[in-house]
Amino acid sequence: MRSAKAPTRAAQNIVLLTGGRLAALYNTALRRSIRNTNSLFQRCSFRRQPMRVLALLFLCALFAAACAPTAPIQDAASSAAACASCHPDHTRDHARSRHANAANGELYRALRDTTPNNTRAFCDSCHRPEVGTSDGLSCDSCHRAVANFGTSNARLRWDRTGPLSSARAESVGTPAHGTRFHGFLPSSELCGTCHEVEGPGAFRETPYTEWQRSPAARVGDTCVSCHGSPTPGRPTPRPMARAALDPMAPSPDRPRTDHRFVGPDDDPESAARLLVGSATLTIRREGTDAVVTVTSAVSGHSLPTGVRAVRELWLEVSTVDRLGRVTVVSGALDGDQELAPPPSGAPWIALHDELSPGLPTEATIVRVRALEPAQSVSARFPIAAETATVRARLRYRSQSQSLRRALGLRGPAPEPIDVATAELL
Ligand code: HEC
Ligand code: HEC
Ligand code: HEC
Ligand code: HEC
Ligand code: HEC
Repeated sequence: MRSAKAPTRAAQNIVLLTGGRLAALYNTALRRSIRNTNSLFQRCSFRRQPMRVLALLFLCALFAAACAPTAPIQDAASSAAACASCHPDHTRDHARSRHANAANGELYRALRDTTPNNTRAFCDSCHRPEVGTSDGLSCDSCHRAVANFGTSNARLRWDRTGPLSSARAESVGTPAHGTRFHGFLPSSELCGTCHEVEGPGAFRETPYTEWQRSPAARVGDTCVSCHGSPTPGRPTPRPMARAALDPMAPSPDRPRTDHRFVGPDDDPESAARLLVGSATLTIRREGTDAVVTVTSAVSGHSLPTGVRAVRELWLEVSTVDRLGRVTVVSGALDGDQELAPPPSGAPWIALHDELSPGLPTEATIVRVRALEPAQSVSARFPIAAETATVRARLRYRSQSQSLRRALGLRGPAPEPIDVATAELL
């Protein structure tokens, strides 16, 4: 999918041009529909027979309601609302996904607002790719993407007028819209075009290049295999379900892609389904030490991946003495719920990016500490004589509390999720 020369500027111009064209098409469609309503009104010569007029209007409305969904939508600026009548499940799942809400995240808006105008436009190119709306991604953002100009920085090429892309050769289209099989839709290159960020400061995300060299890629598992499955993060078979609920056209059963694309910013229960089990944790005794080892169990990319500069993934180690008193030796949160290296100088393990200076927008040095698939990291803790049990847990927090404070955001960061736990008696 990567073209030999990847002229960013030209690509962005094309995107903007398509945006302009999109707005023009939308206006034309709107004008056309207003014109149609007017001529209908004239043809019915309503003014002389008010009662019949009302009855006719009612019938017209019923007719319009019944037929509206089958009006061709392939050349209009179709947003998710245009798909809801026939694809209610996909539309509902998309609506509560981070994709549909990509432009209104609290942390996103706060960080974006600290940057200059040209950087804001850069942020918007992924978080609000549909020009002229305040929404995040729409159905079109993926189902009209047909290629890229290089797999990073939102350099997508959209076909705004052709049939919608399907991942199934057997999809024949419908009166409402054409469909065609397009290999770009289910590819990791589609996802990677936005999920690979080469931005200012610490705005660096590399899931796509990590995936390219991953064990998952070698066995043919793509981003969608794991993130569109009914078990977030695991490539399990997808359930069969009606592709569409359209009374006017046949809708066969097809494998259902979970359009929530669950991520760590979703509700805690969904986020836990993705995160729990992504690492294994062991503690073993070596003389008078406890050695704690964290091993990544993610085969698709690093742990963590994506926007690591705002996340926290760290090891907490505590000891319990014979009276049941718990002491956190490493990875404790302070009274303000902020995470910092242990003041005692005890070893500690953190897997999110280390930034200097601390704000993602200002950082000039970014140290990546994430684990590659199956990679391990260990730390050694001395065990005091009175220790009865050593406990360890690997904790994930989708936002760092200190970043929230630095940006003046009120309220606590989300509760940490325990990705893995272990105990040594
Ligand atoms: C009037 C009903 C109707 C509307 C509105 C509609 N669709 Fe469809 N769509 C269908 C039907 C019926 C099919 C099944 C045809 C087939 O795939 O053989 C379908 C198929 C699809 C497919 C291919 C299914 C597959 O298995 O790969 C995609 C993708 C799709 N629609 C997306 C959309 C999007 C995006 C919108 C809104 C922009 C939309 N549809 C609006 C009725 C509709
Ligand atoms: C083999 C399954 C698998 C594949 C393939 C895979 N992922 Fe993941 N992904 C996971 C798991 C498990 C997690 C949760 C653990 C983690 O954060 O790494 C995750 C987490 C994520 C996150 C949340 C960020 C984080 O780490 O906090 C993003 C974003 C993501 N994946 C994007 C992608 C993209 C983009 C691709 C394709 C280039 C992809 N994934 C391929 C399994 C997979
Ligand atoms: C982030 C990208 C993305 C967005 C946004 C998106 N889709 Fe999809 N959609 C996909 C991919 C990828 C597939 C095919 C996956 C496969 O089969 O490998 C798909 C498949 C489908 C299918 C075929 C049946 C299925 O479940 O696989 C339908 C229908 C569909 N999408 C409708 C929609 C509608 C309607 C919207 C908006 C409400 C939407 N999609 C938004 C990526 C997206
Ligand atoms: C047009 C750009 C774009 C495309 C294409 C895209 N994404 Fe995303 N995706 C985003 C953005 C932006 C976010 C972050 C939204 C937010 O602010 O939380 C996101 C969030 C996610 C998350 C949730 C992470 C979280 O923060 O909770 C997952 C999982 C994900 N995408 C997977 C995919 C997969 C799989 C594909 C390919 C089918 C894909 N994305 C295609 C832009 C895109
Ligand atoms: C090339 C595409 C792209 C660009 C440009 C981009 N992002 Fe993102 N952003 C993403 C994706 C994809 C995710 C989801 C990754 C994950 O969950 O790990 C994301 C997630 C985030 C998140 C975490 C989710 C949330 O909403 O809280 C924040 C904050 C964020 N981005 C801020 C920014 C800011 C600020 C800019 C501009 C300086 C920016 N991004 C530019 C693609 C992009």
